[in-house]
Amino acid sequence: MATAKKPTKKKSTKTAGKATANANPIMAVVPEYDPAAKTNAALVARREAAVARGVASAAPIYAEHAENAELWDVEGNRYIDFAGGIAVLNTGHRHPKVVAAAKAQEDHYTHTSFQVVPYEPYIALAEKLNELAPGDFAKKSLLVTTGAEAVENAVKIARAATGRPGIIAFTGGYHGRTLLTLGMTGKISPYKKDVGPFPSDIFRAPFPSQRDGITVQDALTGLQNLFLTDAQPERVAAIIIEPVLGEGGYTPVPFDMMRELRKICDEHGIMLISDEIQAGFGRTGTWFGIQHSGVVPDLITVAKSMAGGYPIAGVIGRAEVMDAVIPGGLGGTYGGNPVACAAALAAIEAIETEGLLERSTAMGETFRARFAEIGARVAPYRMWDIRGLGAMLAVEFVTDFETAAPDAALTKAVVANALKRGLILLSCGMHGNALRIMVPLTASDELINEGLEIFEAALVDAIAELTV
Ligand SMILES: Cc1ncc(COP(=O)(O)O)c(C=O)c1O
Repeated sequence: MATAKKPTKKKSTKTAGKATANANPIMAVVPEYDPAAKTNAALVARREAAVARGVASAAPIYAEHAENAELWDVEGNRYIDFAGGIAVLNTGHRHPKVVAAAKAQEDHYTHTSFQVVPYEPYIALAEKLNELAPGDFAKKSLLVTTGAEAVENAVKIARAATGRPGIIAFTGGYHGRTLLTLGMTGKISPYKKDVGPFPSDIFRAPFPSQRDGITVQDALTGLQNLFLTDAQPERVAAIIIEPVLGEGGYTPVPFDMMRELRKICDEHGIMLISDEIQAGFGRTGTWFGIQHSGVVPDLITVAKSMAGGYPIAGVIGRAEVMDAVIPGGLGGTYGGNPVACAAALAAIEAIETEGLLERSTAMGETFRARFAEIGARVAPYRMWDIRGLGAMLAVEFVTDFETAAPDAALTKAVVANALKRGLILLSCGMHGNALRIMVPLTASDELINEGLEIFEAALVDAIAELTV
């Protein structure tokens, strides 16, 4: 049996020596800097004393630097990053073009507020998003800062355009942690626990689920029943759906279901919003996840990998819908920050010029094949489902195939053992029993292979641990 070994110490020539306390120029400017504090354990203790416990972290390690799909902690340990900062790094940590574009922008100005003195990078990014989004019609875009803010604004726009209040979201959907978006998020713990009440006029329809025996037809019947029982269709502004459930377990919306949703929206004058915050920018092998189904939504929410690590988000939509809100009704002090706009334009260019959409599809195939092979060899009847689109892929762990009971304990143990061996993994799913792949699309085949070998060893460790 494989034994756990510590992650390897740093390999990056660029950063060699950086982990020594006083060599770090950032730490040098911190007054009364205590070198002893620069260990993972010391930072855990400082964090517990200083940071609200509601902000949980998946890994008890602290970042020192990162490059493409690798990260080094403050103790100099190297990790392969399959989490990509929660699907933010399709172009990798510190993509050279993204960093260069952000630095160049910083030499001009870092903030004016688009609502006070506007700037060209905002317009250029809006133009690019309008060009990339599906739909053969005039489009306009709004830029904000976070995904939740994008979703909130999509709701505001849909309400203003339709004059209706209602929003329909789906079981297991995740749309953010602000109060309106929490109302739309379909999972209690940990997101909604103890922090309600949530805004009204939000309704939930069932998402098709193999585990729960809910077919596409059942899900559509559930939606039609919702129209009869709670959500008067002429009072519904929008149906919002992730083309691939993100936090909810990386389950794609069946394409026939997406097409039916489009028809239902057309029939009742409802806006269809595709929440592409996790699925967008090449994660699934297309610019937007919904493109796999051929359906064109009215509004799209974007964030995460749009800017390769800079906080920016947006709403793209039909021009006349986007213009429904009066001047001054949209925006925010930091919305569409110029440095983040420059980074986003560079990240999009990298996706285009480096063939990352094709790379995502190929990478997805590699992961699928390797997961199936590893599962059969070292974890028979424990890897129940391998699913997703392109490189937006997850494996689901169960106790056995007969009951298919979710095995969150095994998933947790795989994540913990992988970290010990130098691989950062993140779980997801309603039952916390799925592992999702969010590795940068720029990662080399060699690195992916190394990560998969660690995954396999971690799985072996985890099964052994739990069968003692
Ligand atoms: C599909 C989806 N929508 C919205 C959000 C919220 O984005 P943010 O965390 O930037 O507010 C997320 C974040 O994970 C997401 O995956």
